[in-house]
Amino acid sequence: MATAAPVETAAMRRAIELAARGLGRTSPNPVVGCVVLDSEGRTAGEGWHERAGGPHAEVHALRAAGERARGGTALVTLEPCNHTGRTGPCARALIEAGVARVVYAVADPNPTATGGALALAEAGIDVEGGLLADEAAAGNEAWLTSVLRGRPFVLWKYAATLDGRIAAADGTSRWISSPESRADVHRLRAAADAVIVGSGTARADDPQLGVRIAGLSDDEISQPLRVVVDSGATAVKAGARVLDGTAPTLIAVAEDADAAHLEGLAPIVRLPRAAEGRGLHIPALLQALHARDVRSVLLEGGPTLAGAFLAAGAVDKVVGYLAPVLLGAGPAAVGDAGITTIAQALRLDVTDTARLGPDLRITATPIRHSRPEEN
Ligand SMILES: NC(=O)c1ccc[n+]([C@@H]2O[C@H](COP(=O)([O-])OP(=O)(O)OC[C@H]3O[C@@H](n4cnc5c(N)ncnc54)[C@H](OP(=O)(O)O)[C@@H]3O)[C@@H](O)[C@H]2O)c1
Repeated sequence: MATAAPVETAAMRRAIELAARGLGRTSPNPVVGCVVLDSEGRTAGEGWHERAGGPHAEVHALRAAGERARGGTALVTLEPCNHTGRTGPCARALIEAGVARVVYAVADPNPTATGGALALAEAGIDVEGGLLADEAAAGNEAWLTSVLRGRPFVLWKYAATLDGRIAAADGTSRWISSPESRADVHRLRAAADAVIVGSGTARADDPQLGVRIAGLSDDEISQPLRVVVDSGATAVKAGARVLDGTAPTLIAVAEDADAAHLEGLAPIVRLPRAAEGRGLHIPALLQALHARDVRSVLLEGGPTLAGAFLAAGAVDKVVGYLAPVLLGAGPAAVGDAGITTIAQALRLDVTDTARLGPDLRITATPIRHSRPEEN
């Protein structure tokens, strides 16, 4: 976008930072940030969408700006909405506040919310879209992916040795990665709506799957839904740590599973079995979560379930924590993903690398190729 002033670019960058504060709390809505500049280009108000059902970012920022919004500019990470959902349309709030100009980063792809830019322009407001669009879209990747694919965004994370193993030959795996990497995983969990493990991991590790972040109280942390994919309903039993009161839990079982013992312990969802191979139908699992307003999922493994997600084309991003450790034997980071020859290899684009203590964190996204998404 050619016409944005440097002060507007800086304000949009700030709005993107503000938007990120809502991660893990706003689904089924996007994260959105807004900065209102007064007519002199000084920051008059800031806001972000803090939780689903609460006021939108623009409303928070306009409230903070008060009369100073009149004749000013609103910088918003997503095109202002034009529909009345649980809150009124933001386009109307901006018009009523008397702003002269609205700059947004990403156009709203949601058919029920779209049209905000047009409504603003029709009211005589100077409207521009596209400022820092890539950065803002990256901050909203989970929600944008969920709108595009009609299922939650899936981030698969694993921790492996340098020789790619996620456990030793005897099944022990605590701890492969460093405390720094494990703290980083808690940050990923806090930003997700749901965390998923397979029955093998539930059985081997009895994971609790809650979020703990040093320096933050329970009230300041958003806990994702904990999901165990346990087709036969045999892995999760009374006393399992995943059933403690920290966060809600959902056990996904097969339609024909005997799950009577789970009654009163945790809600279950019954799903069809996979047409081929073991376990549950992954697209049906994702549809069931989507129907529960889950828009982002952190898939924590293990390797068998991760392989099934990859085979279904249902991994949008991979975060691997590689520890400078060698095991020589033990399960690999990912099991059978339906790939039998090098021509079928799933290739990834590395989007980030970082050192976390002694470990290397690699973030990558699959290059969408000829393999269609299963449904
Ligand atoms: N280092 C790491 O990052 C990490 C992370 C997680 C786990 N681990 C390790 O991984 C090991 C467990 O691995 P795992 O592969 O046995 O566990 P897993 O992937 O957690 O669970 C596999 C099980 O999930 C169930 N499942 C449900 N739907 C499925 C589907 N569509 N496809 C495939 N499986 C489906 C199957 O059992 P049912 O059909 O009976 O339900 C399957 O046996 C443990 O040693 C654990 O410590 C390491």
